[in-house]
Amino acid sequence: MFKRVSPYIGEYKKYTVWATIMMSIGIVANIAPYFFLYQIISPLIRGEHLDASFILVRVVTIAVCEIVFSVSYVQGLAFSHISAYNTLKNLRVSLQGKLEKQPLGNITELGTGRIKKVFTDDIDQVELLLAHAIPEGIANVAIPVIIIVLMFVFDWRLGLLSLVPLVVGMFAMGMMMKAGMEKMNAYYESAANMNNTIVEYINGMEVVKVFNKDGDSYKRFGDVVRSYRDFTLDWYKVCWPWMAIYSSVLPCLVLLMLPLGSVMVLGGTIALDRMVLVFCMSFAVGPSVLKALNFAGKFPQLDYKIAELEKMMEHPPLKEGMSEFKGSNLDVEFKDVHFGYEETEVLHGVDVSFKQGTTTALVGESGSGKSTLAKLLVHYYDLDSGKISIGGQDITDMSLEALNNQVAFVSQEQFLFNTSLYENILIGKPDATKEEVLKAAERAQCNEFLERLPDGIETQAGDGGKQLSGGERQRISLARAILKDAPIIVLDEATAFMDPENEEKMNAALDEIVKDKTVLVIAHRLSTIKNADKICVMKDGVCIAADTHDKLVADCPEYKKLWDASVSASTWKVRA
Ligand SMILES: Nc1ncnc2c1ncn2[C@@H]1O[C@H](COP(=O)(O)OP(=O)(O)OP(=O)(O)O)[C@@H](O)[C@H]1O
Ligand SMILES: [Mg+2]
Repeated sequence: MFKRVSPYIGEYKKYTVWATIMMSIGIVANIAPYFFLYQIISPLIRGEHLDASFILVRVVTIAVCEIVFSVSYVQGLAFSHISAYNTLKNLRVSLQGKLEKQPLGNITELGTGRIKKVFTDDIDQVELLLAHAIPEGIANVAIPVIIIVLMFVFDWRLGLLSLVPLVVGMFAMGMMMKAGMEKMNAYYESAANMNNTIVEYINGMEVVKVFNKDGDSYKRFGDVVRSYRDFTLDWYKVCWPWMAIYSSVLPCLVLLMLPLGSVMVLGGTIALDRMVLVFCMSFAVGPSVLKALNFAGKFPQLDYKIAELEKMMEHPPLKEGMSEFKGSNLDVEFKDVHFGYEETEVLHGVDVSFKQGTTTALVGESGSGKSTLAKLLVHYYDLDSGKISIGGQDITDMSLEALNNQVAFVSQEQFLFNTSLYENILIGKPDATKEEVLKAAERAQCNEFLERLPDGIETQAGDGGKQLSGGERQRISLARAILKDAPIIVLDEATAFMDPENEEKMNAALDEIVKDKTVLVIAHRLSTIKNADKICVMKDGVCIAADTHDKLVADCPEYKKLWDASVSASTWKVRA
C-alpha cells in the first residue's frame, strides 16, 4: 500500500524519514523513565536509605524525558503532516491531469458523486497513512515490543504471562478484520452509490421540484440512504463483539500477572521490586497496542480506497499524439467513422469532408449523431474505427493542445465556471489583454445584458453559470470562442436559446466571426444554414447526402422533409 502511494511523496519523503526519527527518539524518552523509576523504587522496597539528591536527579531526568517525548512527538507529527498534505496535493494534481486526458464518456460513466468522493474523501484517507499510521504506528508497535522484551529480561515467567491477554486481544482483532473485510466491498459500493445519488439528486433539484415531488427520485434517495445505513450497521454488527473483546482485554496485561506474580513473590521466586517494575511497565503496553491495532484495522479500508483511486487513474487515456499541428491546410475529413458511447454504436461509418474557409452545416433528426460527430472532431472521445484528419494529419497524431489551437467548439451544453464572466471569457485565450476580452464580449452581443448586471463583466457566473439565462450563457461561451480565434469553429446549436431578435443579432455576430474561418455548424432551424457552402444530412448515424441547399431540396427527400417541417414551424409561429 505504501508502495502505491510513495511515487506521489516525491521530495517530501525526507519528512516521513524525519518524522520516523523523531518518533523513535520519543519512544526512547517514553521508556527511559521506567528505568529511573526502578532505581528509586527498588531501594525503597528493600528498605535502603536514599539521598534526596539521588531522588531529585532521577525525578528531574524523568521530567526531561517526558518533555523530550512530547516535543519529539509533536515535531514528528509536524513533519509527517508536511509529507502527508504535500502527497495529497500531488495525488490530486496527478489525478486531475489523468482525468483531463480521459475520454469524457469514462468520466460520465464513473459519475460525479464517485469522482468527488475520490478527489476529496478517499484521497484524504491517505493522510491517515502518511501522517499517522506510519510514524505513530511505528512508535506504537516499537514501545510494546521493547517493553515486553524488557519484561522477559527481568523475569521470563512474568513476560510470558503478559503475552496471554495480548494474544487473545490480537486474535479478536484478527477475527474482526476478517469479518469486516467480507462486508467491506459491499459497504463501500453502497457508500459510493449513496454519494452518486445524492449529487445527482441535488443537481436535478429543479426537475425534481417541478415534476417529481413525491415520486421516483425521492424514493431512490431514500432507498440509497437506507441501504447505506443497513450496510453500515451490518458491518458494525459483525465487528462489535470482537471489538468489545480486544478493547477490554488488551489494556489489562496484569490480568494473569497480578495473581500469579503475587504467588511468586510470596513463594520467594521473584523479588518484589522486580515485580512492581514489571507491573508498571505493563500499563504502558495496552494503550500502545490498541492504537497500533486501530491503525492496522484501517489499512484494509485504505487499501480499498487506493485501489479505487488507481482504477480511476488506470483507465486508458485518450489516444493523444505528441506532434504539433502539421496539417498542410485546414480541410477536415471524417473517413468511415464508427463510434459508440458504450456498447451500442451510434455512428456507423460516417464520411464527411469540408474544405478550408467554407461553412458546412450538419442537419438531421434529433439523435441522428450530429453533436457526437462534432465532439469527435474536438477529440472528446476516441473512435472505434475510422479516421478524422485536419489537413491530412490524423487528430490522434497531434497533442490535445495542438488540436485545441486549431478548433474552437461552442457546444450544445454550455458550462461556465463559478468565477467572473470576464475570467470565463478569458479561458479562450489566457494571455489576452482586457481590451481583447471586452471586444470579444461585444462581438458576441454580450454588452446588452452585461450592462444590466450590477458588476457588469465582473459579475460572478454562479455555480455552473446558473446566474445567467441559457441565451446569456451561450453568448459568453461564444465570446470565449471568439477570443480564442481558432481557424476552425464548431458551433453546436449555438443559437438554440435565442429569441428571434437576439438570434438575428447573434447571426450577424456569427457571420462576422466565421469570416475566413472553416466552420462546422449544427442547427435545427434550417433557415439559419440555408446559405452554407455544403449541408450534410445525418440520419441514424450515417451521412446520407451532402450538397447545397437547392440541390438537396431537389434531390434528397430526407432533407426536403426537414426543410418543409422547418418552414411550417416558422409559419406556424407567425400564425400563432
Ligand atoms: N453521453 C452519451 N452516452 C450515451 N449515449 C449518448 C450520449 N450522448 C448521446 N448519446 C446517444 O447517441 C445518439 C446521438 O446523439 P447526439 O447527441 O449526437 O444526437 P444529435 O443529432 O446531436 O441530437 P440533437 O439534435 O437532439 O442534439 C443518441 O441516440 C443518443 O442517445
Ligand atoms: Mg445535438
